[in-house]
Amino acid sequence: MKNIVITGGAGFIGSHVVRLFVNKYPEYNIICLDKLTYAGNLANLKDIEDKPNYKFVKMDICDFEAFYQLMQDEKVDGIIHLAAESHVDRSIKDPFTFAQTNVMGTLALLQAAKLYWESLPEKYDGKRFYHISTDEVYGALELTHPEGIEPPFTTTASSSEHHLAYGKDFFYEDTKYNPHSPYSAAKASSDHFVRAYHDTYGMPTIVTNCSNNYGPYQFPEKLIPLFINNIRHRKPLPVYGKGENVRDWLYVEDHARAIDLIFHEGKTAETYNIGGFNEWKNIDLIKVMIKTVDRILGNPEGSSLDLITYVTDRAGHDLRYAIDSTKLQKELGWEPSLQFEEGIEKTVRWYLDNQEWMDNVTSGDYQKYYETMYSNR
Ligand code: NAD
Ligand code: TYD
Repeated sequence: MKNIVITGGAGFIGSHVVRLFVNKYPEYNIICLDKLTYAGNLANLKDIEDKPNYKFVKMDICDFEAFYQLMQDEKVDGIIHLAAESHVDRSIKDPFTFAQTNVMGTLALLQAAKLYWESLPEKYDGKRFYHISTDEVYGALELTHPEGIEPPFTTTASSSEHHLAYGKDFFYEDTKYNPHSPYSAAKASSDHFVRAYHDTYGMPTIVTNCSNNYGPYQFPEKLIPLFINNIRHRKPLPVYGKGENVRDWLYVEDHARAIDLIFHEGKTAETYNIGGFNEWKNIDLIKVMIKTVDRILGNPEGSSLDLITYVTDRAGHDLRYAIDSTKLQKELGWEPSLQFEEGIEKTVRWYLDNQEWMDNVTSGDYQKYYETMYSNR
């Protein structure tokens, strides 16, 4: 595969995938396709924008005609599809945009790829449509309390010293879909379309479902960058509900490495779960962030704890996500490279060192949006 389109390449995870592919595969043509919504930012790719094997195309994935033309012009062999509306809180306010981009946009890519690839003499040979999805499509797991023992329980599979699991169940590749938010419902629908294109037309597809990512270049409406920035500026930290929801965190570069491996070595039509067995209750994670930011900035230990502000819970807030990535680890030999403690330290330092990036993305429209959301809580 030579000519590869990475959709959503100017977003958080997409920019790490683009950077990895551009640097690792000088022989490939990497086409970063992005509409540059509020979440897309070419500053995320500044360090590779002059590389000869990199090209940026501003395009809406819903524009079937334009994408079909691009497939022909660039002789596209592979698509790694990350473009999406990705924030649950926004999906609660504006579900139509999520259905449009995540469902109709994915369908437009699939159909354009089908028409182009089926027109070639080799048809689908050497082609791949890789769709990046989320663990949120599986719904929510319970926090289980077996006789007299309160979670967390210790797991042995963790890559982190944290070694915690907040229940006995995990999301497996065959866990039934049960999405609860408009975001996860739209992602679930797009996953079904991708699988349908394999089953109906024989398109060589792959789907992966990953847990929550963290790391540099994440838009600061998501928990980790938002809270690091707020701690730095002594702004309130809006903790939804009691802060008891559990998320399973993976360093973004480990996700990008998994995508590279699966794109090249994953089996067609398979699903792989991606996650590092690294569950944290929100409130515990927030305390780690506070401790780390305070230490790095030289504030007295615990001085930012008073910023924690409990606010109305998110509607339909999923209690616990936890991915079992044993299949990926055993079949393809992937494992997370970073301990969580290292990852969070790197992440905090990156946001503190890149205030200009933060100021740029939090200015203008986004800032207004954030203030409206926050003042309504
Ligand atoms: P993000 O919101 O940071 O980036 C999304 C990118 O898609 C942006 O660059 C945006 O401009 C672009 N985009 C949005 N609508 C578009 C459209 N109509 N046409 C073209 N481009 C468009 O998202 P992210 O966190 O990097 O997530 C990327 C993908 O990974 C998504 O599909 C998401 O569902 C999935 N995912 C994310 C996480 C996570 O923790 N962030 C976890 C698992 C899976
Ligand atoms: P988020 O980063 O939005 O990811 P997702 O909802 O896709 O898991 O949120 C992570 C967790 O943090 C989730 O349980 C919601 C919670 N949260 C807050 O408590 N306050 C906030 O301001 C945000 C953005 C999230």
